[in-house]
Amino acid sequence: MAPARWSPTAFLAVLLLLPPFAPSPARAATPGKSLSSASTAVFQLQGAVYPIGHYYVTMNIGDPAKPYFLDVDTGSDLTWLQCDAPCQSCNKVPHPWYKPTKNKIVPCAASLCTSLTPNKKCAVPQQCDYQIKYTDKASSLGVLIADNFTLSLRNSSTVRANLTFGCGYDQQVGKNGAVQAATDGLLGLGKGAVSLLSQLKQQGVTKNVLGHCFSTNGGGFLFFGDDIVPTSRVTWVPMARTTSGNYYSPGSGTLYFDRRSLGMKPMEVVFDSGSTYAYFAAEPYQATVSALKAGLSKSLKEVSDVSLPLCWKGQKVFKSVSEVKNDFKSLFLSFGKNSVMEIPPENYLIVTKYGNVCLGILDGTTAKLKFNIIGDITMQDQMIIYDNEKGQLGWIRGSCSRSSKSLMSSFP
Ligand SMILES: *[C@@H]1O[C@H](CO)[C@@H](O)[C@H](O)[C@H]1NC(C)=O
Ligand SMILES: *[C@@H]1O[C@H](CO)[C@@H](O)[C@H](O)[C@H]1NC(C)=O
Ligand SMILES: *[C@@H]1O[C@H](CO)[C@@H](O)[C@H](O)[C@H]1NC(C)=O
Repeated sequence: MAPARWSPTAFLAVLLLLPPFAPSPARAATPGKSLSSASTAVFQLQGAVYPIGHYYVTMNIGDPAKPYFLDVDTGSDLTWLQCDAPCQSCNKVPHPWYKPTKNKIVPCAASLCTSLTPNKKCAVPQQCDYQIKYTDKASSLGVLIADNFTLSLRNSSTVRANLTFGCGYDQQVGKNGAVQAATDGLLGLGKGAVSLLSQLKQQGVTKNVLGHCFSTNGGGFLFFGDDIVPTSRVTWVPMARTTSGNYYSPGSGTLYFDRRSLGMKPMEVVFDSGSTYAYFAAEPYQATVSALKAGLSKSLKEVSDVSLPLCWKGQKVFKSVSEVKNDFKSLFLSFGKNSVMEIPPENYLIVTKYGNVCLGILDGTTAKLKFNIIGDITMQDQMIIYDNEKGQLGWIRGSCSRSSKSLMSSFP
């Protein structure tokens, strides 16, 4: 999910309850090391749009490495884990909370601390406090630490990279505080220096290219590096600067429904895998809803369902989107000639456990968003590529349900 603006008044520097420690000599990273094309790390994903609402990866962190489920988020930079530092407000998570040791704490003067919060004054020079708030009101507060991430490369070697991430000891989810969470933390893959991908590039492990493929059946895969990016048939669009924040954006797109323009001015769009659903600003949202409703068959009746704001029931209970998709038409976002993203019904509808079909596009203005978000639902069954080396975003349709080993056959 995209991070919201910081509210400095709410910021509270909380000390880690650890004794002072002696500085250790910093080990230099190895930028500029030549990268072989073999340096691609591939991860199997778990999760789904509905009902869990996240796609997540298992990361092995520490010595000995322990597994953690991290929500894949291309809408923010900082990776963090629920952390027993000790914990002040943590969620119940799938694995035991990460336990930091004092030698892993990143000092305030570290460049990644400075890049995360410019002009920051640290309450304690030995540690780097952070606080991040997301647009969905969730937040994490903690200190930066560095520890080993064990990554499997495609050529079957394993690398250990000492990466900086957040040890979050105070998490608030929505308004309710500590709750059961599906993941142990978040995998920040944005463009900033603290993004895991930027760090892997800095250390010469992989190129600054990432891709994901979310299956409509759940699961899928994630990769860092560029050697499984298809060489043809990918739709590429230059990454655009966004008016608010440093997000991955293909720029402004014109919205079409069933190949007819909806008459909206081009809308600024960001790709955010940390968002389950898509968000359109009020105008394109209303236009989309009107166009959808106008084309619906009489057998679908609007119904209220706790899952999402706009749902319909059919004459029978639906089990999957494929049973109802013929009643709906495709949306298209056009970013210029030959750069069109088709959004077929499978990429904007879900079927709930009550057997209703619901619109997975939400009103972003109500959610106070400043841009339009293409979330997980719309990125399903496409390989989405974020190429920071060439400054471009790409997409190509294919099945994401295959194992990463048989990837090549999904995306010839
Ligand atoms: C890991 O990285 C951090 C931050 O760059 C650094 O302070 C620390 O010394 C490194 N640890 C090891 C064991 O290399
Ligand atoms: C795999 O790639 C890495 C990074 O390029 C390299 O260091 C390693 O030796 C390779 N391993 C094998 C088994 O080829
Ligand atoms: C990471 O792994 C390397 C190699 O196994 C080890 O030398 C180093 O101390 C580890 N770093 C941390 C921060 O645990």
